[in-house]
Amino acid sequence: MNYSNQIDLLWDEAAKRFLINDKVVIITGGAGLLGRKHAETVIEGGGIPVLMDISDNALEKAKGDLEERYRGTCRVDGIATDITQKEEVVRARELLLEKYHHIDVLINNAANNPKMESASANMKAIQFENFPIEIWNKDVAVGLTGACICAQVFGEIMAKNKRGGVILNISSDLGIIAPDQRIYRKEGLREDEQTVKPVTYSVVKHGLIGLTKYLATYYADKGIRVNALCPGGVYNGQDEVFMEKLTSLIPMGRMAEADEYKSTVLYLISDASSYMTGSTVIVDGGRTCW
Ligand SMILES: NC(=O)c1ccc[n+]([C@@H]2O[C@H](COP(=O)([O-])OP(=O)(O)OC[C@H]3O[C@@H](n4cnc5c(N)ncnc54)[C@H](O)[C@@H]3O)[C@@H](O)[C@H]2O)c1
Repeated sequence: MNYSNQIDLLWDEAAKRFLINDKVVIITGGAGLLGRKHAETVIEGGGIPVLMDISDNALEKAKGDLEERYRGTCRVDGIATDITQKEEVVRARELLLEKYHHIDVLINNAANNPKMESASANMKAIQFENFPIEIWNKDVAVGLTGACICAQVFGEIMAKNKRGGVILNISSDLGIIAPDQRIYRKEGLREDEQTVKPVTYSVVKHGLIGLTKYLATYYADKGIRVNALCPGGVYNGQDEVFMEKLTSLIPMGRMAEADEYKSTVLYLISDASSYMTGSTVIVDGGRTCW
């Protein structure tokens, strides 16, 4: 065997570990910007993405777009579910088990995402002193309680099925550092009109890292691995002034493209990361180093 054949064989062996053939992968918030990208990742790895989202319309659109993109060569499922309601999540699990008989991966991706760059003066109430407890409860319900409910409901079945399993919690660079509130300020607004990144974003994203460590140790002997991914901000048509301020905080000098997390997600949900659990993987252009 020549050197180049040997390299090809080694490459094949390494590449095979990234395959997730026929694995059923639940993606909460699957109809959103990154949820769709996670779904593409699952399809490209050979698995079956199940988009789980509260928004029926967005779900249908996302499913349709994926089917069109992969021209019918993929299997993609969608199930409208409010992840803050345990009985809805259990109902979804039962429907999926009837259909597939196994659930292999859970990506806890759903969150309430404040679009700060388009925030206006009516966001005033978001300032910490006035932060409404109803919004606190709603944000925590989706980002943390929902993630916990899904881990309970799907973790239980992964443990029972004895096929192993993976839970991937989508945190954020703001799960590692505090938001730099200066980048959200708008010239010409009074101090009490300035917007700030809501406290719940920090709490939810830091909380997911705690949940990751708890579940990683809790489930280690059941063959379920649990890790967290902390992505940096994704470019999505934000206004230029905001972009300039944000990118000056990022050593690589730019935001991420939505596609740039796909290979890390595939690594984390496949056997390529078989000895990894309880870890927090940061992919942020270096932002949290500064
Ligand atoms: N986009 C970014 O720049 C960025 C950066 C870092 C981290 N993140 C994290 O990545 C994840 C995805 O971000 P995104 O930009 O795709 O967000 P997005 O707002 O586009 O998508 C979130 C999805 O969650 C769904 N959702 C909300 N409440 C729900 C509920 N109760 N039950 C089920 N689904 C519900 C929404 O309908 C939506 O489709 C989030 O956790 C976010 O915090 C995003």
